[in-house]
Amino acid sequence: MEEERIVTANTLPEDEDLSIRPSRIDEYIGQQDAKENIRVFIEAAKMRDESLDHVLLYGPPGLGKTTLAYIIANEMGTSLKTASGPSIEKPGDLAAILSSLEPGDVLFIDEIHRMPRFIEEILYPAMEDFSLDIMIGSEGNTRSIKINLPPFTLVGATTRAGDLSGPLRDRFGIVAKLQFYTDEELMQIIKRTSRVLNMPICDEASLELAKRSRGTPRIANRLFKRVRDFALVDGEEEISLETTKKALERLKIDDMGLDEVDRQLLLAIIQKFNGGPVGVESIASAIGEEVTTIEDVCEPFLLQRGLLKRTSRGRMVTALAYEHLKIEYQNTIFM
Ligand SMILES: Nc1ncnc2c1ncn2[C@@H]1O[C@H](COP(=O)(O)OP(=O)(O)O)[C@@H](O)[C@H]1O
Ligand SMILES: [Mg+2]
Repeated sequence: MEEERIVTANTLPEDEDLSIRPSRIDEYIGQQDAKENIRVFIEAAKMRDESLDHVLLYGPPGLGKTTLAYIIANEMGTSLKTASGPSIEKPGDLAAILSSLEPGDVLFIDEIHRMPRFIEEILYPAMEDFSLDIMIGSEGNTRSIKINLPPFTLVGATTRAGDLSGPLRDRFGIVAKLQFYTDEELMQIIKRTSRVLNMPICDEASLELAKRSRGTPRIANRLFKRVRDFALVDGEEEISLETTKKALERLKIDDMGLDEVDRQLLLAIIQKFNGGPVGVESIASAIGEEVTTIEDVCEPFLLQRGLLKRTSRGRMVTALAYEHLKIEYQNTIFM
């Protein structure tokens, strides 16, 4: 297996450490807008004794979509069934999942943008009228029958809301875009993790970790665990700033939270494409990464931090990227 990037936002087995995943909405840090709206909608649905309207959560990996889906089920007092877009291959797969739902259940479909279009259509009547239309019979002699489903809430998660078809997107009553977290919010998350895992960390160290976590809780938690290892080996009872810095240096994560892949990406655009604009496919082949990794994991953060720009002609690095990588800007003065 390929070595995992430490800053990758993809799920690693250690993330299954459920103890650090908040289970109530009050423990869910940040995302004020999304959180407060969802809190009200949950409250109202409970007062009406109805299922919560369907929820679409989107944003880069590691920002808390799955966590929020579990919290919604928890707060509604119902159970959660999970599926993922790519695992639903045939209409029958989805029909089987839908017909197994109990009243009020939350059906969580992760990576919902990867569900095939022709299967999507089965979801429309299910989401709208809680009914399932299935075709029975064999060729030339098929008919459609309607099955009633119990009321349920579909929670869809996606890193790419733009890849969802319009009709599917329109059927979600609640749409929430998750944002990158501030350093203060990440510090709170790190402190919480530190409490849960019973390893104290000083404020300066948790701020340092927060700054280098790409605005992403999953990365903050992962870095915390690595730094904790260094502190343990050094015999520290509280994680110090010094150990944190040393660990981050060993992990090759720089002071903006960029790792080697991010730096390679920026460097490739500068050195091989004269700063851009360049298409994402060319960048992908220049650094040997997948287009989806670049688009879903690297770019949102580099764009947000102003190191990269998207133009109609492709990606361009910014002056800040040259400065950060300590490269003279004059190469591209004529662009
Ligand atoms: N708002 C939050 N408050 C505290 N911890 C969070 C929050 N969002 C995410 N996390 C932590 O980050 C980890 C990754 O979040 P997850 O929900 O799996 O992200 P996503 O599904 O968007 O990729 C979770 O296991 C949880 O520990
Ligand atoms: Mg997830």
